[in-house]
Amino acid sequence: MKELELNTKIKVCAFEEFSIEDRELIDEARKATARSYAPYSKFNVGAAVRLADGTIVSGNNQENAAYPSGLCAERTTLFWANAQYPNMAVDTLAIAACNEQGELERPISPCGACRQVILEVEKRYNRPMRIILYGKNEIYLIEDGVKALLPLCFDSDFL
Ligand code: THU
Repeated sequence: MKELELNTKIKVCAFEEFSIEDRELIDEARKATARSYAPYSKFNVGAAVRLADGTIVSGNNQENAAYPSGLCAERTTLFWANAQYPNMAVDTLAIAACNEQGELERPISPCGACRQVILEVEKRYNRPMRIILYGKNEIYLIEDGVKALLPLCFDSDFL
C-alpha cells in the first residue's frame, strides 16, 4: 500500500509582522464583526477582501430564524465582491470573529462550505488567494490559496 502525504504550510504571525495593507485589511475584518447580524449564535464574524485593484470590500455573517437560511461572513463578502466587481480577482481575504467575551484568542477558521466557495473564486479568476485568519494571540497567514485548507478538493476540473 502506498501512502499519500498532503502538506499544508501556514505561517503563524504577529500583527506587527504584516504589511500596512494587510493590517488595514485585518482591521476591516475586525470592524465588520460589529455590523454582523448574529442574534442566534451571538458569534459575530467579519471578513474583508482586497481586490486586485486594491479595492477593499467587507461583510459579515447574516443569520436567520430559519437557521440554514443565514450565511457566513466569508460567503456574504465574496459574493458581494463578485457581484459588484465581476472582473476583479480577489487578492487577499481576512477573517476575524468575536463571541460574547470579545475577540477570539485563536484564529477563526472558515467552514467547509466557505472553503469551497473560496476555491471557486480562485478558479474563476485563476489566482490563489492569500488568506489571513485573525486571532488575538496569533494570526495565520496562508499564502498560496485555499488548497492548504481543502486537500483533495472538488473543483470544475472533475466535471
Ligand atoms: N460563521 C461564519 O460567518 N464564518 C465562519 O467561518 C464560521 C461560522 C458564522 C455562521 C453563524 O452565523 C455563526 O458564525 C455561528 O456558526
